[in-house]
Amino acid sequence: MTAADAPLSLSDSARIDDLISRMTIEEKLGQLNLLTADLATTGPSVRGDYVEEIRKGRVGGLFNAYGRDFTREMQRLAVEETRLGVPLLFAFDVIHGHRTIFPVPLGEAASWDLDLMERTARLAAAEAAGEGLHWTFAPMLDVCRDPRWGRIVEGPGESAFLSMHIARAKVRGYQGGDLAASDTLAATAKHIGAYGAPRAGRDYETADVSERTLREIYLPPFRAAVEAGVASIMPSFNDLAGVPATANEALLDGIVRGEWGFGGLFVSDYEAVEELKAHGIAADDADAARQALAAGLDMDMQSATFIAHLGDGVRDGTAPLARIDAAVRRVLELKARLGLFDDPYRRCREPAASAEDLTGAARDAARRSIVLLRNVGEALPLRRGDGGALRTLAVIGPLADAGREMLGSWAGAGDPDKAVAILAGIEAALAGSGTRVLHAAGCPIESGEDEDITGAVATARQADAVVLCLGEAAWMSGEAACRSSLDLPGRQQALAEAVLDAAAERGVPVIAVLTSGRPLALPWLEARASAILQTWFLGSQAGRAVADVLFGDWNPSGRLPVTVPRSLGQVPIHHDQRPTGRPPSDNWYSSKYLDVRAEPLYPFGFGLSYTRFRYDALRLSADSLPIGDAAGIEIAVDVTNAGPRDGEETVQLYVRDLVASVARPVRELRGFAKLRLAPGETGTASFRLAPDDFAFVRRDMSVGPEPGEFEIAAGPNVADLPLRSRFRLDADARS
Ligand code: NOJ
Repeated sequence: MTAADAPLSLSDSARIDDLISRMTIEEKLGQLNLLTADLATTGPSVRGDYVEEIRKGRVGGLFNAYGRDFTREMQRLAVEETRLGVPLLFAFDVIHGHRTIFPVPLGEAASWDLDLMERTARLAAAEAAGEGLHWTFAPMLDVCRDPRWGRIVEGPGESAFLSMHIARAKVRGYQGGDLAASDTLAATAKHIGAYGAPRAGRDYETADVSERTLREIYLPPFRAAVEAGVASIMPSFNDLAGVPATANEALLDGIVRGEWGFGGLFVSDYEAVEELKAHGIAADDADAARQALAAGLDMDMQSATFIAHLGDGVRDGTAPLARIDAAVRRVLELKARLGLFDDPYRRCREPAASAEDLTGAARDAARRSIVLLRNVGEALPLRRGDGGALRTLAVIGPLADAGREMLGSWAGAGDPDKAVAILAGIEAALAGSGTRVLHAAGCPIESGEDEDITGAVATARQADAVVLCLGEAAWMSGEAACRSSLDLPGRQQALAEAVLDAAAERGVPVIAVLTSGRPLALPWLEARASAILQTWFLGSQAGRAVADVLFGDWNPSGRLPVTVPRSLGQVPIHHDQRPTGRPPSDNWYSSKYLDVRAEPLYPFGFGLSYTRFRYDALRLSADSLPIGDAAGIEIAVDVTNAGPRDGEETVQLYVRDLVASVARPVRELRGFAKLRLAPGETGTASFRLAPDDFAFVRRDMSVGPEPGEFEIAAGPNVADLPLRSRFRLDADARS
């Protein structure tokens, strides 16, 4: 039983039946109308005409609406001044935190830590619910293999398998055990329709993926969210092979409702119904509204086409009343599940999460999201103070003193002035240690006037080590923020090369700290920096988390949730590519480039640690299994911490179906487990694989496993799998 379709109490069902029976068409369409509050610097407000619309019962919910006083007043209008007193839904994009900002989703995905992901969603929900909110437009579950696309930052990365786990963790976190509790938010899985596969990496572009790829890669995280009880789903802006998701009945009504049994609410994206005209599939707003309704959409965000046109549609028979009633019922059911009929003000009262918990979790999530990409000669961790011969540390680069940037592209209601910059985090960590900190920006993030590379080099020359803070501004990823290059913007490469030259002359280590919303292709930096940390946008506590890792107070444990290309020309690049008839090799006639190697700069799953892990034994409970045996096999992997420090390893399990009716990926992630090990300690990661874990969309488009031989491989990342074994799925004797 799932939250989105769990049975309602008899009194709620009766109330909903009664309301629907008494509503005028206009009041019904009002429930399907979702409007934005204006976000002014002082907080949300609404236009005067919206207040009138609410009073007339022509609004079902407001988004960008938060704040106890504001939501209380709007709710009072709905409950006390409308004819039927139906409460409003208040929604907001609580994507990676509300006031307290956690790492951007792609960064948090790098933690591979599902408990952490659930906890940050839980805390974000509690903080947001304390400000009157009921509903978030998260989690974003768009698998993406093209880092040009700016929204890669909001998502779970390239693996459908990891994304499915993230989907479940996030839905559990936001919605809690009981949606009616005053500290929960209804979640929205978004944006269904292969939004993460836009042509040429440009936002809103068409996605033309095969049905096989759609079902194997882009849809599974949404299905996982449905199974976890997600309350709502948002179709994407783009079209899928010519049919925009907003009006795609085969997807919404067919697959999601029909095949998966989704009983929750479909909410459109911002003005997406109206945009069906621009897509060229609707003649006018009325046509757009009718098509979206027919496809299964329930709520129209900000187009106001349902409220304006579906009344006529009912009268002329083009918009079936039964469809409208079903949509209204789903909106009212969500309100009932949130407990709004019992107490419409229950979330406008008090904060449900303590500041201490929030700050602690923000720092913990941030440091667990950091990926150590390179560490030559144990340049990291830095040893504080004179004793460690670190008398002077230079912190150079435009991202060093950039607290506001740390919040990333979707900072909710976070206060940028309260975000801890990397420089501030380093200064705090070094206070009283005897190490002096020098700082120079060197150049702006993008091209600009205040460039002083010479001055930055002079600063670097005074130091025993340099921390070089490079990367993108927050606005360079996120919605509509796509790039045609994976380089550092502006003059940052020139700055970095000048600092690297100066440091090389003096034999001083340079630690690069990369802040970005996407993987950047920087092979020149890999060739020259002593150490590199990928830090994404780490949120409110970014600087403290970076300092924790730099000085060894936290042993980095992040692993890449996306492949990092060495050149933009390799894109799309991902770990689960198919083998081809001529795999990359020294042979001229193989799948390769003339000017760049086929392998990525850093493979999927990669990340270093300050300790070393040894993989010893891969054990399978059986070397074959009947295909009908749902119990599956047990797999165990022994890992030893062979280094000097406590550390956390993410043990990864990949499979390959060696011969199948359809070419299967060379490596596909099918399991991962985190082990925390003390020096010398051995731990065992255990996995279970059932025949369904080998399922795929077969030649005849049916879904399931095929008998045959599989390779099972385990290791620290997809390109380093020291343990391998084979295993057979045997056809059932009966079949
Ligand atoms: C547009 C974005 O695509 C979507 O992710 C978001 O939830 C809505 N705007 C509402 O802000």
